[in-house]
Amino acid sequence: MKFLMFAASLRKESMNRKLIGLAAGIVRGSGHVVDLADFHEFDMPLYNGDLQAQSGLPPGALEMVRRIEGADGLIIASPEYNYSLPGTLKNAIDWVSRAKPMPLRGKSGLLLSAATSVVGGIRGLWQLRIPLEGLGVFLYPDMFALAAADKAFAEDGTLKDPTLSSRLQTIMAGYLKAAEALAER
Ligand SMILES: Cc1cc2nc3c(=O)[nH]c(=O)nc-3n(C[C@H](O)[C@H](O)[C@H](O)COP(=O)(O)O)c2cc1C
Repeated sequence: MKFLMFAASLRKESMNRKLIGLAAGIVRGSGHVVDLADFHEFDMPLYNGDLQAQSGLPPGALEMVRRIEGADGLIIASPEYNYSLPGTLKNAIDWVSRAKPMPLRGKSGLLLSAATSVVGGIRGLWQLRIPLEGLGVFLYPDMFALAAADKAFAEDGTLKDPTLSSRLQTIMAGYLKAAEALAER
């Protein structure tokens, strides 16, 4: 199976990019194919219905649609901005939702987050579930929210805390099994 994976951050030193890199290794290690996207590949203007009426979806949104269409599932590592999902990610979801056919429907998904706070971005992930589930993504119930992420990574990109590392492995394995079962339906 093939999974589109990306961090919803444009920052060079993004902790969510580190987390998605770690998760990508786990997916590859389980024998699956990873399409690891950089969020810059999905750069797009703010949603504007007039722009859509004039020229359709912008190139970054079309690229995101194409990559979603080519994947069986989505794994997103998203920062938490002001207790919610980043506006950049919501904007991207809004553009993609205008594509016909709408590529998110029926895909499976897993949500991860790395944040500096002690709750690790879980509040943002709960809010990210709303548009994705509304658009028909089968989101895995468990989510991984890495707290105090600025201190969580070792030099080699792994997680310093073995308990957290094992929790990430368990959640990823559970999701991959669920995604396989969903694909067989
Ligand atoms: C606009 C903005 C709002 C933020 N709000 C939160 C927040 O609500 N909770 C939190 O844990 N961190 C918050 N942060 C801090 C982020 O966790 C931190 O910037 C993190 O590094 C973002 O992820 P990234 O490293 O992948 O870019 C916020 C950062 C920004 C720029």
